Amino acid sequence: MIGAAVLTPDEPPFGATGGRAWRLRGMAVAPEHRNRGIGGALLDAHIAHVAGLGGGILWCNARIAARGLYARGGMSAWGEVFEEPLIGPHIVMWRRVGADGAAHARAADAGPQSA
Ligand SMILES: CC(C)(COP(=O)(O)OP(=O)(O)OC[C@H]1O[C@@H](n2cnc3c(N)ncnc32)[C@H](O)[C@@H]1OP(=O)(O)O)[C@@H](O)C(=O)NCCC(=O)NCCS
Repeated sequence: MIGAAVLTPDEPPFGATGGRAWRLRGMAVAPEHRNRGIGGALLDAHIAHVAGLGGGILWCNARIAARGLYARGGMSAWGEVFEEPLIGPHIVMWRRVGADGAAHARAADAGPQSA
């Protein structure tokens, strides 16, 4: 295995979404395979999976160092940077995902405002 992530139904910290919210966590790529686009491909696969589930809000607590990865996947920051004990600074990143094929395009329909 060279990469993994977990997707669970979970409400984001910025409010109720009527049960149409999905949280991405634990995204990791084996050290020897990093910086080759695998993390981005994993994120794309999860965006497509959420679209296949009917769409909704996709969000995560992103490490500050990984912010660019999520931004390239069309995700926007929400709220303030916060400290995760033992891990470091994080920020909430999120995007809307439609139920149609257009939602698969990266950076296609990010929500620039708060939800
Ligand atoms: C984050 C991670 C999954 C990216 O996987 P990847 O296959 O290297 O990703 P890509 O090649 O598609 O993109 C590289 C991106 O990784 C991110 N990244 C680079 N170094 C990083 C680090 N030390 N920690 C976290 N993210 C990092 C950056 O966003 C980088 O994009 P940039 O060019 O804008 O800086 C991988 O670095 C990893 O497993 N890190 C350790 C676990 C982790 O930090 N998970 C994320 C939790 S939010």
